[in-house]
Amino acid sequence: MNDIKLAKGIYWVGAVDRDIPPSSGYAGTSYNAYLIIDDKVTLVDGVKKSHRDQFWARIRNIIDPAKIDYMIVNHVEPDHSSNFPEIISTIKPEKIFCSAPGKEAIIAHFHDASWPFEVVKSGNEISLGERTVQFIMTRMLHWPDSMFSYLKEDGILFSNDAFGQHIASDDRFDDEVDIAEPLRGAKFFYANNLNLLSPLIKKTLRALDTMDLGLRMIAPDHGYIWRSHPDKILEAYAEWSCQKHSKKALVVYDTKWKSTEIMAHAIAQGIEEKNVPVQLCSLKTWHRGAIMEEFLTASTIVMGSPTINNGVIPSMAAFLHYITGLKPKNKIGASFGSYGWGGEGVRQINSTLDDLKITRVDDGLRIKFVPDEAQLKDCVEYGHKIAEATLAFNPGCAKD
Ligand code: FEO
Repeated sequence: MNDIKLAKGIYWVGAVDRDIPPSSGYAGTSYNAYLIIDDKVTLVDGVKKSHRDQFWARIRNIIDPAKIDYMIVNHVEPDHSSNFPEIISTIKPEKIFCSAPGKEAIIAHFHDASWPFEVVKSGNEISLGERTVQFIMTRMLHWPDSMFSYLKEDGILFSNDAFGQHIASDDRFDDEVDIAEPLRGAKFFYANNLNLLSPLIKKTLRALDTMDLGLRMIAPDHGYIWRSHPDKILEAYAEWSCQKHSKKALVVYDTKWKSTEIMAHAIAQGIEEKNVPVQLCSLKTWHRGAIMEEFLTASTIVMGSPTINNGVIPSMAAFLHYITGLKPKNKIGASFGSYGWGGEGVRQINSTLDDLKITRVDDGLRIKFVPDEAQLKDCVEYGHKIAEATLAFNPGCAKD
């Protein structure tokens, strides 16, 4: 096992997990933990308990774990902390640095208030010997306890979940792969975990900018380390948190007896005819996470469902629930669907669009039972209308 070094005396001691259930929408991830060798040997974060063997093997390759003095806990969630009892009984740390909500969370998880907690606040610094760690509170990014730890002399920001990606790779650094890969992973991560926190992210980015840290590397707790291109991920976060988008429509739908699917294809044709790029996303084949990744940088969502039991089809109900939690902003939307008598499915989609303050093109297009040729033309024309509304829609950076 080769040691993986970020800089002199600073190592990645995490683990790669390729056994993620398909329901997650991604194929794997890494749990990144870091070890700093200094007068005070310091461990930054941990790994999921199931992957502790990789973690210990990496540490033992570098140093006897009993020689670790300090732990820094940037965030307590089981993917980073479920092996804490074992870590603490093995290394017997002199101090555990965490935020005040972090201390509460650790105690609430592991029920041992006797551990040597040292609560830190934004701006607090500790010396490890040759190096200094500065703490930056990032409350609610994405949990109440979240914080960053900045290693000043080396310009390395340990950012926990922020800037991370759920990618399982043999490579650790952004410059070892095509930069599109970590950026795509970061986009999925942002769209599905952080989008609703965009106002806070904008604030944090502004604060980082003001602090003028001179950071040279961003080391998140998942995926690739931004060694050569920290600027790229900071730029991407600035765009995503502003909800900047390109003119593109997603047609997200499910169907019972194919009528809504036929409508979806005709509407997509109409959108395309007006030169707006369009992506059909059947809920039978697209994972909700992949749809949200696409939607992060697309202007328009068109959702279609047949009416079943006075509402939308269950797969659309699940998607409406999911998108509601992620609070996309600066978007335009439309709805459609086939029905037998009441046609409540389209109204339910409209209600979600309204709750999300997504600008609605109109009240939607409903067709009773199976569309005939004239109704298919109506669908194509509806696509034209959606495309025209999309082209005319030019919001600025989303308001906080
Ligand atoms: Fe919020 Fe990667 O845990």
